[in-house]
Amino acid sequence: MSGWTLGIETTAHTLSFGLVNAEGEPFPSASDTLRPDQGGIHPREAADHHKDVAGRLFGQILEQQSLSPSDITSVSYSQGPGLGPCLRVGAAIARGISTRLNVPLVGVNHCVAHIEIGRQQCGCNDPVLLYVSGGNTQVIARLNGRYRVLGETLDIGIGNMLDKFARAQGIPFPGGPVIEQKANEYLKNNPNPSMEGLRLPYAVRGMDLAFSGLMTAAQRLIENGASLESVCWSLQEHAFAACVEVAERAMAHTGKRELLLGGGVACNERIRTMCDEMATDRDGTSHAPPKMYCIDNGTMIARLGWLEATKRTTQLSESAIDQYLRTDQTPIVWP
Ligand code: ATP
Ligand code: FE2
Repeated sequence: MSGWTLGIETTAHTLSFGLVNAEGEPFPSASDTLRPDQGGIHPREAADHHKDVAGRLFGQILEQQSLSPSDITSVSYSQGPGLGPCLRVGAAIARGISTRLNVPLVGVNHCVAHIEIGRQQCGCNDPVLLYVSGGNTQVIARLNGRYRVLGETLDIGIGNMLDKFARAQGIPFPGGPVIEQKANEYLKNNPNPSMEGLRLPYAVRGMDLAFSGLMTAAQRLIENGASLESVCWSLQEHAFAACVEVAERAMAHTGKRELLLGGGVACNERIRTMCDEMATDRDGTSHAPPKMYCIDNGTMIARLGWLEATKRTTQLSESAIDQYLRTDQTPIVWP
């Protein structure tokens, strides 16, 4: 593929354009995230936000690499999974640009894009993946030409759980980074912390996970007088340990020695450390991409589009979005 591949990400709060060059080398995205003043995300409001900022961001992404639209030779977009109204905006923009420039369109799987940008950034070959984002929490491994989900959340994504807990404490979206900060403050004042009085339920269900019970119990601790900092620390320890436990079991079963983190919650230093410790204990390695490629970004969509474009493109007639697209629905056709 000659020229540049544009990637368009609109699964949820964020509209992001990204680029990879003809060799598939990634360049930083141009992004804008809707941050509601109060309450959770409203899909239509997010979609309106994406429409409003798209023109400006498209100009910005071209300007960042001093390109003109004619340098784009392929357009990829998140076809799913995600919020319907948001996905539809991204698909419409992608169709428009692809038709206008008369270049191929490639609809890609958002979850698989998180994985592939991580593989590219960290130089992993065949890792077990711990994909921890707002909407998703999955432990994944490549098997027979697909990314198979070996374990996942049975209720809400770990990031949504952190955001919801934070919101109940008056902390605006995204709550995850603030919880991390509060947990660090707690540790600074309590270098040898104890779980006494801060215990939360066990989130592991076989190979799966469940987080809503953790969130309710954490709220109850606050109502009973525990400090916000101490509960943030305990919530992180419990939720992350559960994820790491399932990831470890996946490594044991598959015999794989690399662990790769992805998704917005992978920005968290504590989960990165826990993964490092677990992998090292097993004579393996743990990897996490730079934070700008953990959160939702157009560059990862461009990277997967670039990988897939040699084998398949998306006809307009099959370019509809799929809110419920699963990680294992996408055949791995690239090396
Ligand atoms: P997906 O569609 O893959 O579920 P998403 O829409 O949730 O993605 P991401 O950007 O992948 O978007 O993840 C956002 C989530 O990451 C939010 O829940 C946010 O609180 C969380 N997050 C970001 N930084 C941190 C951090 N340092 N610690 C914990 N959570 C974090
Ligand atoms: Fe994501």
